[in-house]
Amino acid sequence: MTDTASDAASAPRRLLVLNGPNLNLLGTREPAIYGTATLADVEALCRNRAGVHGLEVDFAQSNHEGVLIDAIHAARGTAAGIVINPGAFTHTSIAIADAISAVELPVIEVHLSNVHAREAFRHHSYISPVAAAVFIGAGINGYGYAIDQLATRG
Ligand code: DQA
Repeated sequence: MTDTASDAASAPRRLLVLNGPNLNLLGTREPAIYGTATLADVEALCRNRAGVHGLEVDFAQSNHEGVLIDAIHAARGTAAGIVINPGAFTHTSIAIADAISAVELPVIEVHLSNVHAREAFRHHSYISPVAAAVFIGAGINGYGYAIDQLATRG
């Protein structure tokens, strides 16, 4: 085996954890719904959980649909899977769903709140049909469950 091949074989696998609009405000945004943990807390949880599985995390947040789509495209070739909380784009974005289909990576959808216990417009997700699994209403623990799932799925 060449050095390059053995380096590739021993390189930690990476996951992309992607957060959509308004999630930069976690901690102060409607804490009765979304909790008091900040996005930095979510990032730390993700890095710790991934580390248990020997995985590394690329962690990102954007308020812009196209930036999220570009990040999904870029994950092809760099990430073994994606955890995404698309925020309100969950309920509106065919384009993000199409990007997920296009990259053919396992994607886990996460929502902090139980969207099914909230307004009717939050009950439909364009993302769920193209997601490998969905964790809803478990707060920030949902990100950890999503990482466990990506790390251990067959
Ligand atoms: C959310 C639920 C969405 O309906 C909402 O627009 C968000 C956050 C959640 O994590 O519970 O921004 O994705």
